[in-house]
Amino acid sequence: MKLLTVVGARPQFIKAAPVSKALRHAGIDEFLVHTGQHYHANMSDIFFTELDIPQPDVNLGVGSGPHGRQTAKMLMELEAIMMAERPDWVLVYGDTNSTLAAALAAVKLHIPLAHVEAGLRSYNRRMPEEHNRVLTDHCSDLLFCPTQTAVDNLAREGIKQGVHLVGDVMYDAVIQFAQRAQRHSRILERLALTPKQFLLATIHRPANTDNPVRLKAILDVFLQIEEPIIFPIHPRTQKKIAALGWEEKVFRKHNVIIIEPVGYLDMLALEQHARLILTDSGGIQKEAYFFATPCITLRDETEWVETVEAGWNVLVGADTDKLLSYVRTFAPQGAPAPIFGDGKTAEKIVFFLTNSTNFRPKIKT
Ligand code: UD1
Ligand code: UDP
Repeated sequence: MKLLTVVGARPQFIKAAPVSKALRHAGIDEFLVHTGQHYHANMSDIFFTELDIPQPDVNLGVGSGPHGRQTAKMLMELEAIMMAERPDWVLVYGDTNSTLAAALAAVKLHIPLAHVEAGLRSYNRRMPEEHNRVLTDHCSDLLFCPTQTAVDNLAREGIKQGVHLVGDVMYDAVIQFAQRAQRHSRILERLALTPKQFLLATIHRPANTDNPVRLKAILDVFLQIEEPIIFPIHPRTQKKIAALGWEEKVFRKHNVIIIEPVGYLDMLALEQHARLILTDSGGIQKEAYFFATPCITLRDETEWVETVEAGWNVLVGADTDKLLSYVRTFAPQGAPAPIFGDGKTAEKIVFFLTNSTNFRPKIKT
């Protein structure tokens, strides 16, 4: 069996790591395509090195741009590669423009498509990820759901065939790399941090970065608290803070420690030892849960409703006063239940890939 995987953005490298490893163990030939959606070393290369992911067979070098242009460039290139490689399966992750481009290329060539992290919904069509995931799910033959909520979401849209509840590959990744992070990460020493005496923050959703009112409201919280806040800054956010003219203001505040995006091992160490995480990231909401670190989500809705229902995540949006109040008081008790699988999700995905009949005719030679 020949499988062609498409990745392109930071969280996809992390999701692909355990699956790629399981594919190698099963002796399956994986052709890895990197679209180049993320390209700075600390948004891309560092993950391949740290997570033992084989170097991509091809990097399309598509880079940044408006959604239509970026997706179209990927689609053109991916179609040519899929026609040349003729894989038995195309494998995609999550909900980025790279995911959608690969899904469209595969479905139009009648190549069976498998989607990891299928069925997630925010029910907010203004999020680019929402169109990407809805369209990808409707093109997919195998849909690997991380949660029962995701399975139910698909059923409501009439998708029942090929749906498998397998757990979350990001949980596999944390299990596989948390010890390595403990051994190798020096970030706490480097930043002179004491465990449980700092906050960790990330912001990158357009709903926050591209809306000056929301961005200022969130940054205001950082300026009003005295506890150290580690803020590994996404390049999109850095540009938007500069455009607001708030760079100087935020950088000057002694407790706000703005750093370049960090590698996965440093990120795991920061997440595990933070007192609290403030984020609009999907992956980080889950990792906070895995480490039992309380999470304040800077959004009005989430795809990871289980973390909220369990009491370890709270949706606070971007209201300064409300945020400040939660930063001071949010302290969930007990231990989060294991609801994201057993850490063997990647093996289950490989099992279904190797044991499913291809539903569509292959490309004619
Ligand atoms: C993308 C995904 C989002 C995912 C996020 C993970 C889409 C529509 N969005 O958002 O779902 O949560 O990745 O981080 O696919 N940039 C750099 N260097 C890089 C990459 C990006 O400078 O290596 C800058 C560019 O100015 C670019 C901006 O960041 O325009 C946004 O990058 P883009 O990949 O378009 O979207 P993300 O916000 O990263
Ligand atoms: N991450 C990282 N370094 C950072 C920020 C995030 O390694 O500086 C990791 C994080 O641990 C998680 C993933 O990237 O595994 C989440 O990616 P991101 O927040 O960019 O995207 P999302 O999950 O929201 O799609």
